[in-house]
This record gives sequence, C-alpha cells and structure tokens, in this order.
Amino acid sequence: MKIGVIGTGYVGLVTGVCMAEIGHDVIGTDVVAEKIDLASQGTSHMYEPGLEELLKANLKRGNLHFSKDLDKTIQSAEVLFVCVNTPQREDGSADMSYVEGVSRKIAENLNDYKLVVEKSTVPVKTSQWIKRTISLYKRKEIDFDVASNPEFLREGTAVSDFLEPDRIIIGVETERARKILEKIYEKFKDRVLVTNIDTAEIIKHASNSFLALKICYINLMSELCEKTHADIELVARGMGLDPRIGKQFLRAGIGFGGSCFPKDLRALAKIGEDLGVNMNLLKDADKINLKRIEIFVEKIKKALWILKDKKIAVLGLSFKPETDDIRESPSIKVIKRLLEEGSFLRLYDPKAMENMRKIFPEESPQISYAKSPYEAVKDANALLIITEWDEFIDLDLKRINDEMANSIIIDGRNIYIPSKVRDLGFEYYSVGRQ
Ligand code: UDX
Ligand code: UDX
Repeated sequence: MKIGVIGTGYVGLVTGVCMAEIGHDVIGTDVVAEKIDLASQGTSHMYEPGLEELLKANLKRGNLHFSKDLDKTIQSAEVLFVCVNTPQREDGSADMSYVEGVSRKIAENLNDYKLVVEKSTVPVKTSQWIKRTISLYKRKEIDFDVASNPEFLREGTAVSDFLEPDRIIIGVETERARKILEKIYEKFKDRVLVTNIDTAEIIKHASNSFLALKICYINLMSELCEKTHADIELVARGMGLDPRIGKQFLRAGIGFGGSCFPKDLRALAKIGEDLGVNMNLLKDADKINLKRIEIFVEKIKKALWILKDKKIAVLGLSFKPETDDIRESPSIKVIKRLLEEGSFLRLYDPKAMENMRKIFPEESPQISYAKSPYEAVKDANALLIITEWDEFIDLDLKRINDEMANSIIIDGRNIYIPSKVRDLGFEYYSVGRQ
C-alpha cells in the first residue's frame, strides 16, 4: 500500500517515518522546500528523540521518500494522510484554509481511487467538508473515501507513542475505508477502535480538552495549597492513587502550552457554542491556564519587588522538555511580561534557543542567550525555571549559588526539593508548596 503524507511538520514527519518503519511505502510532501530537502538527506527539521535514526534507516531501506511535488505525491499514493496545520483564528476557531487547499489539490489530481485520511486535529464535520470539496472539484468520475484517524502523539515521545500506541481511532463511513485503515494498522489490531467519522473527530478534541482540564484542576488546587499549609505534590499523589483519577497529568506548574492544548480547548469551546452548547467549563479552564503566568510573575515580584533593571536568568524555553517546539510556550508570555517591566533577561534552553531567537532577537539590549545554565545565572538577581529539562534537575546548585548575585529561585515546575535548595542558601519559590 502506497501512503502519501501531506504536510511534514511535527505530526506529518513522525507519521511518515513511523508508517515506513512499520512496513509501508511512504512519500512525504510539504510546501516548505527546506523541510523536504532536509528530510531527503536524513535530517529532521525539528528535534524529536529517536526520529532522525528511523528517518535515516527507512530512507536507506528505500521505502521512504520525500518530494516537493504535491500533485505527483497525490497521484502516486492510494492513501493520503492530511497533516497540514490548522492555526487558531482570532475568535478561537481553527483556520481550515490549508485543509481546504489540500482537498482541492486532491480533487484535481484524483487519478484513481484514494482514501483521504484526516490526521490533523480538526473540528467535527471537517471530513464531511473535505468530502464535499473533493466532490465539487474533482474532474473525473473516480471514487474516493474520507476518514478520520486522529493522532495522539506527544512531542518528545512521539516516536514511541506511534510505535506503541494506547489506541488507534479509525473514523470511517465505508467498508472499503475501514479495511484499508485496518490493514495499515494491522500490527496494532488489538488496539483499534472503529467509529463513525464525527465520533473520531470528537474523540480527539475531547481527549485533549479533558487532559487540559485535568492540568487546570491541579493548578487550581495548587492555588489553594499556597493559601493553606497543604502540599500540592502530596495532594496530587494522594488523588492519583485512586485508579479512577490516575496519577498522570496531575503535575502542577506554570500552565500548559504547546500547539494542541490551548488551541484545541478554544476550538472545542467555539464548536460547542456554534452548536448551541454551553461550553463555559472549557472557557474557564482557558482563563485558569492564562492566569498561571500572572501568578508566576507575582512570585517574581514578591521576591524582587521592582523588576526594572533586574538581571533574570530564564531556564527552559520550550513548552515541555525533549522538544525544540516553543508554540504557545509559557516562557514566551513570561518573557514578554518581564520585558515590559524593564528586566534584563538571559535565556537558556538545551534545544529551543534557535526558535526563540526568531521571536526575541538578541539585538534587544534586554535579551541575551547563554551557552549554559551557569552562564545564564552569572550575576543574576533571580533564576526562573520554566521547563523541567533533566539538565536543570541535575544542575550543580552550589555552583549556581556562587555565580548568582542573589540566590533566588522561582521554580514554575517544582523540580527541586524545597528543604534541599533552602539548605544550600537559596530563597526558593515553587508551585503549591511552602
Ligand atoms: C499538528 C496538527 O496536525 C494540527 O492539527 C494541530 O492543531 C497542531 O499540531 P503540526 O504537525 O504540529 O500540526 O504543525 P506543523 O509543524 O506546522 O506542520 C504542518 C506542516 O504542513 C508544515 O510543515 C507546513 O509547511 C505544511 N503545510 C501547510 C503544507 O505542506 N501545505 C499547506 O498547505 C499548509
Ligand atoms: C498533547 C497530547 O498529550 C497528545 O496526545 C496530542 O496528540 C497532542 O497534544 P503535547 O502537547 O505534545 O501532547 O504534550 P503534553 O505532554 O500533553 O503536554 C502539554 C502541556 O501540558 C505541556 O506544556 C506540559 O508542560 C503541560 N503539562 C502536562 C502540565 O503542565 N502538567 C502535566 O501534568 C502534564
């Protein structure tokens, strides 16, 4: 079976490479020529653990190819996975223009039966729109099907999430489409759930929003803990021992970011409202998450009083560890707030500095980038932890203490044990703990 992957971004590249890895013949395409050039040479345009090794191996094996030619990619594949992005519009809804554009291209190049599979996170009913668009623009009377097969990959663990999935959701409306997708995912047949298309689309949005709600809930509880003598880490542990709750996604912190949770929460709220459903639960969650930034900045103010002219080291720029992705990263909002206050910031991240330079160039006198955490904290009045990279957990805190002008840590991810850092002489502020 020949698979075409349209859009080789974070989702598409992982999907293409892993589809090849499980034995399919894959061709990937993207409008950004540089991504295709890099991928063809065995280089990933983004940092994702384990991806480049599989990319190289499958290129060598000959069952993975990349092309800049969208028309040819469409014509040569029997199954097309649509992985283009669906950016957020001002009203919170998803901008579907790339999906529409791709659908029209598929219609124009329909040379044989094709199954068009929507992989991007999309509003319910999108597949129906894709179907209608292809029907309207196709030039020949050739059959096609649409399906929804949402991705559940987490950045940082995307390869293993693909190769060891918890579940594969297949939303189809014909037997032919079901059989093709079941064949593609033969290896994981015990984990396949077949639904209709609307259900599959809602499962994706509902899952992401539910996880986002879970994080909001624990963050809200952390606010309560800060006003009492409770400890959020133990509260989360105690709650998580109940298998009905589960221990995952109960890490309190600076709030969730990334290309999915913030956007999907707003998109689902908008979809529901447009359908006449009261979605205030999700809208409140969005507000709670945004408030995390103000709560964090308040802690910095509590420690430093006046932020103007203070030297602040910022460790962690990506929205989570093990990725270079900074989309909707809490770090961006914190940095913006501190720049407004007139602070001087020295930033460090193991993988995300190149991306961050595009948003905060070094030309600004208030911004500089450090080569190591130790360089970042030199003469700093405070150190902020925004992302829980292992490198920060393993820091030599004695050395950090020596380098800093004032020994103050404001930790947005609870990576240190309060008593230990305080014993080393730090003033330490964390989340939901004394
Ligand atoms: C994913 C999901 O697919 C999306 O639904 C979700 O909301 C965000 O996360 P992701 O892979 O992370 O998207 O996005 P991105 O890395 O931007 O990749 C999309 C790719 O599609 C880009 O490489 C872009 O160049 C490409 N693209 C976009 C096309 O090839 N053609 C287009 O018309 C538009
Ligand atoms: C998410 C979903 O998990 C994945 O299934 C979907 O396909 C895409 O969206 P991703 O955004 O890559 O994946 O990362 P995830 O690990 O879910 O983390 C999202 C955000 O939540 C990060 O900013 C992370 O720091 C935050 N988070 C996560 C918390 O603040 N606390 C937690 O307990 C877990």
